[in-house]
Amino acid sequence: MSVGRVANAAAPATGDAAAGRRDRGDPRPVTRRAARVAASRVRVGRMHVVIAGGHGQIALRLTENLAAEGHSVTGLIRNPDHAEDLTAIGGRPIVLDLEQADAEHLGGLLASDMHGEVDAVVFAAGAGPGSGAARKDTVDRAASALLADAAERAGVRRFLQISSMGVDKEPDPDRDEVWAAYIAAKAAAEEDLRGRDLDWVIVRPGALVNDPPTGSVHLAEPPVDRGEVTRSDVAAVLAELLRNPGVSRRVLELRGGDTPVKDAVAALASGG
Ligand SMILES: NC(=O)c1ccc[n+]([C@@H]2O[C@H](COP(=O)([O-])OP(=O)(O)OC[C@H]3O[C@@H](n4cnc5c(N)ncnc54)[C@H](OP(=O)(O)O)[C@@H]3O)[C@@H](O)[C@H]2O)c1
Repeated sequence: MSVGRVANAAAPATGDAAAGRRDRGDPRPVTRRAARVAASRVRVGRMHVVIAGGHGQIALRLTENLAAEGHSVTGLIRNPDHAEDLTAIGGRPIVLDLEQADAEHLGGLLASDMHGEVDAVVFAAGAGPGSGAARKDTVDRAASALLADAAERAGVRRFLQISSMGVDKEPDPDRDEVWAAYIAAKAAAEEDLRGRDLDWVIVRPGALVNDPPTGSVHLAEPPVDRGEVTRSDVAAVLAELLRNPGVSRRVLELRGGDTPVKDAVAALASGG
C-alpha cells in the first residue's frame, strides 16, 4: 500500500486484529457488530474528523466513540497492518507516515474530499515510550506543526491537540534527557499552534491509564493539580469538545475528577 492511499475500508475484523489489541492490553472487544452498529446509526450533525496517529490508544477510543454516533473518522496511520483495527471499529485508515509527509501532500489529502469534507483534525500522535529525543522532535513537535500547516492549507479550522501536563514547567531534573526532549517538543508544538489562526484547543492530560472510563473528569485552564486520567475519559473529552466548537483557543488541563464530561465541556462553552 502506498503512502497516502486509502486502506481497504471494507476489511472485516479478524481474530488477528482482536488478538493484536488484546496483546496491547486493550480490553475492548473488536467485533464486526461494532462496525455494523456504527454504520447503522442515524447521522445527525455528522462530522468528518481526521485523527493523526489514528492507531494510538486514545485515538482508537475516540474513533470508536465518534463512529458509534455516525460521524466519519479517518485515521492517519503509518503501519498498514493497523488498518484492520480501525475498520473494525468504524474508522477509515489512510496510511501516511507523519515523519515523511509534507504539508502540501497532507493538505491536499485533507482538502481532497477523501471521505467527505473535513470538519476537524485531532493530533493524537506521539513518539511513544521507547523512543529517543530525536523522535520526540520529529513526532511530538514537527508532526503537530505539519498537521496544522496542512489544516491551514485545506481550510480546516478546528484543531484539537493532545499535549501533556507539565509542558509549562521546567522538566523534572531527576528524569533523563529524553523526558526533557519530550517536554520541549510538546511545549514547542503548543506554541506553534497557539500562534495560528485556527480554532484550536490544547488538551493536557495528566498520567494516562488504561482503566475503564469513569465518565467524570476535572477539566480546566491551568493550573490543575497533576493526577491520573483514563485514556477512555480523554477520548470522551475530545469527542465532547468536537461537539462543542464554541470552546476554542483554550489550553485545558485534564485529570480524573467528579464532573461529568458533558458538564465539564458545557461549563467551558458557557465561558467557565
Ligand atoms: N503516557 C502518558 O502518561 C501521557 C500523558 C500525557 C500526554 N500523553 C500524550 O498523549 C498522546 C496520546 O497518547 P496515547 O497513549 O494514545 O499514545 P500512543 O498509544 O503511543 O499512540 C501514539 C500513536 O502515534 C503514532 N505515530 C508515531 N509516529 C508516527 C508517525 N511518524 N506517523 C504516524 N503516526 C505515528 C503511533 O503509531 P505506531 O503505532 O505506528 O507507532 C501511535 O499509534 C501522546 O502524544 C502522548 O505523548 C501521554
